[in-house]
Amino acid sequence: MPETEGPTSKTDAPVRIEQLVKGFGRQRVLRGVTLSFPRGKTTVVLGPSGCGKSVMLKHLIGLLRPDKGRVFYEGEQIDLLSERKLGPIRREFGVLFQHGALFDSMTVAENIAFPLREMRRGKAYDEEARVRLVLRLVGLEHTYHRYPAELSGGQQKRVALARAVVLRPKVVLYDEPTTGLDPIRSDVINELILKLKQQLDVTSIVVTHDLASAFKVADHMVMLHEGKVVLEGSPEEFRNATDPVVKRFLRGEASEEELQAIRAVGTGMRDTDGGMRGWE
Ligand SMILES: Nc1ncnc2c1ncn2[C@@H]1O[C@H](COP(=O)(O)OP(=O)(O)OP(=O)(O)O)[C@@H](O)[C@H]1O
Ligand SMILES: [Mg+2]
Repeated sequence: MPETEGPTSKTDAPVRIEQLVKGFGRQRVLRGVTLSFPRGKTTVVLGPSGCGKSVMLKHLIGLLRPDKGRVFYEGEQIDLLSERKLGPIRREFGVLFQHGALFDSMTVAENIAFPLREMRRGKAYDEEARVRLVLRLVGLEHTYHRYPAELSGGQQKRVALARAVVLRPKVVLYDEPTTGLDPIRSDVINELILKLKQQLDVTSIVVTHDLASAFKVADHMVMLHEGKVVLEGSPEEFRNATDPVVKRFLRGEASEEELQAIRAVGTGMRDTDGGMRGWE
């Protein structure tokens, strides 16, 4: 299908979405999101929990289909493709899923080799060399024979990242890569995001709540709120943002409506002598 001239089509962007609308039942999650993810750059997508960041990411690789709107990869509309035709496109993406666990019963090396074995393109890879290469990239070559349970949470994330890039992707998607890690381990992941961008020359899309991480890795930033893009721009533009929704998010403050909702729940639970009902 020919690509129409959209407002963002002039940007050199391998990945684009246009007017994406997605809901589940009566819940409207994405309400018309148009974004371009610039080539070779890292775009950070910010937004409160539940605003649809993971849902948006899943559309980029056809794991979810839009109710309305379109998804493009290298100028080709992909949201209508069959699973079979999506296969080669998905191989261009490396994905670090939010809850993407390693297989416990496999060693680190077997976990990383898994996508190589899954891919039946008749190409003979030197599997061990490839696994060692990506393990070296994440600084964990010595864990080759270990099992996930023998690694720390931060190391497991790094192994998952090695697995995400073993097929040498053109685009890497990171869904909350630093969640659950302490600041030092988070920073190791940030450094890896920067290093992979340089060494593999990839386009990166990072979904995160972690503002320190966001400002460290971002070339370009987007904020989603209530299913729409509230701001898209450089990290500098985000630092100087005047939009109250963006400012509140960056300061880590709840909105007045959110606070009122919490206070209302509190009053409903309290009985007359100040105890909390139902806790006895
Ligand atoms: N497969 C699904 N079926 C039904 N509802 C879903 C599905 N996937 C997501 N949702 C709903 O869509 C909304 C957005 O979910 P999403 O996972 O994208 O949030 P998020 O912005 O990634 O949040 P977080 O920062 O907590 O990861 C949520 O209310 C979620 O419950
Ligand atoms: Mg999410």
